[in-house]
Amino acid sequence: MSRVRTVVRVTAGLMLTVMGAASAAAWYVREHLPQAGPVPDLVAPTDPATVERGRYLTQHVAGCLVCHTPHDLGVVGQPLPRDHLGAGGVPFGREEAVPGLVISTNLTPEGLGGWSDGAIVYALTTGVNPSREVAHTIMPWTRYRSMARPDLLAIVAYLRTLEPIPTAHPSRALDPGVTLSLNLMAEEATLAAEAPRGEVEYGAYLALIAGCEDCHTPAGPDGRADPAMRYGGGNEWDVPGHARIRSTNLTPDEATGIGALTRGAFIGLFQQHRDDPLVGQRWPDGVPVTVMPWPAYSGMTDADLGAIYAFLRTLPPVVNRVVVMEPTPGGPEPDLANMPKPPRLPDGYADRMTVGALCDEVDAARAPGLFTEPADPALVAAIAQRVADRDAPDGAVLAARLADPLPDRATWLRENVRLHGLAGRCAAVLSAIPPE
Ligand code: HEC
Ligand code: HEC
Repeated sequence: MSRVRTVVRVTAGLMLTVMGAASAAAWYVREHLPQAGPVPDLVAPTDPATVERGRYLTQHVAGCLVCHTPHDLGVVGQPLPRDHLGAGGVPFGREEAVPGLVISTNLTPEGLGGWSDGAIVYALTTGVNPSREVAHTIMPWTRYRSMARPDLLAIVAYLRTLEPIPTAHPSRALDPGVTLSLNLMAEEATLAAEAPRGEVEYGAYLALIAGCEDCHTPAGPDGRADPAMRYGGGNEWDVPGHARIRSTNLTPDEATGIGALTRGAFIGLFQQHRDDPLVGQRWPDGVPVTVMPWPAYSGMTDADLGAIYAFLRTLPPVVNRVVVMEPTPGGPEPDLANMPKPPRLPDGYADRMTVGALCDEVDAARAPGLFTEPADPALVAAIAQRVADRDAPDGAVLAARLADPLPDRATWLRENVRLHGLAGRCAAVLSAIPPE
């Protein structure tokens, strides 16, 4: 046999093998993937209590509507426009570590009207939609698979009550190979019959659904969440037009985490975002804004926030001091002259401020250049007095803070994340507290 013919035969054989492998792979993908078991036969209850539980989880815990409603991070309170509530269309791309581009889908009856209740639960827990496509994991189905069946059905019940909004979003565009790896990730979900009952366990459950860990655990060298840094903070975002922001350390480390934060102070951080008098006003250029959906989470009950706190206290402490905010290199200078001003204070607003918030209010009042009117030391002392009267341990924290030397403006900018809320709000809070 001539050399040439051998080569031809070998090549042909190779090509057949390659083609065979390719078509076998195509067949495998077509016939066998994603493998996620049967679509469950479920019917969501429609009673008001179930719909309300669904509204609570959808709006305040799982953050579905935050991702599935276009909104502007630069507007205080990040309000979700009612005429687009749940209509989808928010793009997620390489900035969010998506290999390509995905667009959140329409959750209103215009988008999900044709899906059975079981099909929605199936998509939420396996990622697989009725066309057998697997959603990218930025859509947190890998977490939602741990949700209890009644909670999943409550979410479905609530989604059915959304105002129908017609949309025509472009389809997603993922890099080659990503669809196949998503198909391989899909697996059958075993739904728990009910949510866990113990406070710590329920707090862990809520934190999982809410995605706290995703944003508060930095990536290791392999680009995946680093297990040794679980909840240790330091994930980084450059919010365009604003500043660089990093998530904080939520482990109980005394010096760098929430070790020194009392339960009341932790809950207070969320309470400040309820009835925020600045909602709807715009943060000026260069002023840090956060990616954490505080306004959505602030609708959680104090009991549920307390459960999350109880869970966080059980984590192994991670020593990681995070510089929460910095100007984005080359980004705009903070335009502090145009900070939002509160039109009026809601009743009891100053009373609801807890020490965590007040510490920052006090710092803001003391930090030169941030505060439009000079802080009155008597008022600052009055705040300390009020807090000390109501809650002794917190009062001690605040007193210690007051005794610290004044930070210079640059240090203060670096160390205090809520700069943005403060210049306007602090003036209002201080003036709302009668001098003693
Ligand atoms: C972090 C943002 C984010 C959150 C939170 C989120 N989604 Fe999504 N969701 C997306 C994106 C992006 C897509 C599109 C994914 C894709 O095309 O690969 C999506 C897709 C979907 C789909 C369609 C799945 C499919 O394959 O067609 C449904 C249904 C859905 N989400 C429901 C929900 C519900 C209900 C919640 C809350 C329990 C929720 N989402 C929370 C971003 C999010
Ligand atoms: C989308 C990302 C994201 C998610 C989700 C998220 N966080 Fe955050 N978180 C941040 C960032 C960024 C900061 C720092 C800026 C700020 O305070 O908003 C932060 C700050 C915090 C702080 C510190 C506040 C302070 O002033 O000291 C606490 C407490 C916190 N997060 C708790 C939580 C909890 C609890 C959850 C889940 C219910 C959660 N976070 C979910 C991004 C996130």
